[in-house]
Amino acid sequence: MSESITDRKKQHLIIAARDDVQMGQSAGLETVRFEPRALPEIDFDEVSTRCTFLGKTLSQPLMIASMSGGTEESQQLNERLAQAAEQHQIALALGSMRIAIEHTAKRGAFELRQIAPTIPILANLGGAQLRAQQGLANALKCIEIAQADALVIHLNPLQEALQQGGDTQWRGLAAALRQLVAESPVPVVVKEVGHGIGPTTFRQLLDLGVQYIDLAGSGGTSWAAIETKRANTVHQAAIGEVFHNFGITLTETLTAIASTPSLHSDAQIIASGGLRSGLDVARAIRLGAHIGSAASPFLKAAQTGQQALSDVIEQWHEQLRITCFITASANLEALRRAPLIESL
Ligand SMILES: Cc1cc2nc3c(=O)[nH]c(=O)nc-3n(C[C@H](O)[C@H](O)[C@H](O)COP(=O)(O)O)c2cc1C
Repeated sequence: MSESITDRKKQHLIIAARDDVQMGQSAGLETVRFEPRALPEIDFDEVSTRCTFLGKTLSQPLMIASMSGGTEESQQLNERLAQAAEQHQIALALGSMRIAIEHTAKRGAFELRQIAPTIPILANLGGAQLRAQQGLANALKCIEIAQADALVIHLNPLQEALQQGGDTQWRGLAAALRQLVAESPVPVVVKEVGHGIGPTTFRQLLDLGVQYIDLAGSGGTSWAAIETKRANTVHQAAIGEVFHNFGITLTETLTAIASTPSLHSDAQIIASGGLRSGLDVARAIRLGAHIGSAASPFLKAAQTGQQALSDVIEQWHEQLRITCFITASANLEALRRAPLIESL
């Protein structure tokens, strides 16, 4: 079993970096058009993009999304990501820690606190593992291993349904989530993996007491596509192909939340799934997100090297600061109210 998780993770890292596993359509953020403020009446140097997340201050509202851990390759990847996140003071979400639960020898890839002592680190476990026997105890163990500020539970029923030997017993997960929220010493974040949390799931999660929801919408990396590329038979691949672009975008969900009073809440929303620049982060924040998050752009940069990763994070920061400047927003609060071009 252990070898198969390790092999799968290795394949995921290789295939996820390919362009043909991105969705055919974007996250829809180009429809969010800020009105340019040619007379901003602020200095560029005044712009502050600082925010608080999980009780810690970030230099910009950004998190490196959950990716990997447990293999040799991902140990190095995680160390790179942790170094960069600490250097730039952004949050870091770890990949699924299932392997660390099943094999204590694999825990090193998730023990990054020494490299990243001051930033929010988020542990991660799959919904299917939470629902399994010992699920709650294992989830709490993940927090301990990572010395985490929060625990992410990922919901990926489409990926599991397409994966050979995937976990498809999902009845009872809602109750397990409710119990986890009640017993976890740190906040629980619930996310998808790129096919999206829609308004109905969002409401269900609020009802379970979840206070942090990562939309992980469609428009970026397609896990249906990744699993289809890994399919062993033409028959399996044919089943998966139709789901390549399946899902709801973060733009659609954020818009639905904004226009539906019964979905308004104090929950913090993390926008991810197809965010590809600091301008995208700004647009997601304008639509109601607390912070933005991305996986694939940071994976590709990290595979090039530490400097490339650092450069991308810096570029996103500068793009966000420029967007604030040209929308006359001295800070993120002002950006949230920046006028949009609704229609011309
Ligand atoms: C290589 C790779 C591994 C991933 N592994 C995990 C994981 O273990 N747990 C998880 O919650 N999400 C995982 N994801 C999903 C991402 O966190 C994210 O939700 C998704 O890729 C969409 O973001 P993107 O379009 O910016 O890539 C992974 C993504 C990539 C690219």
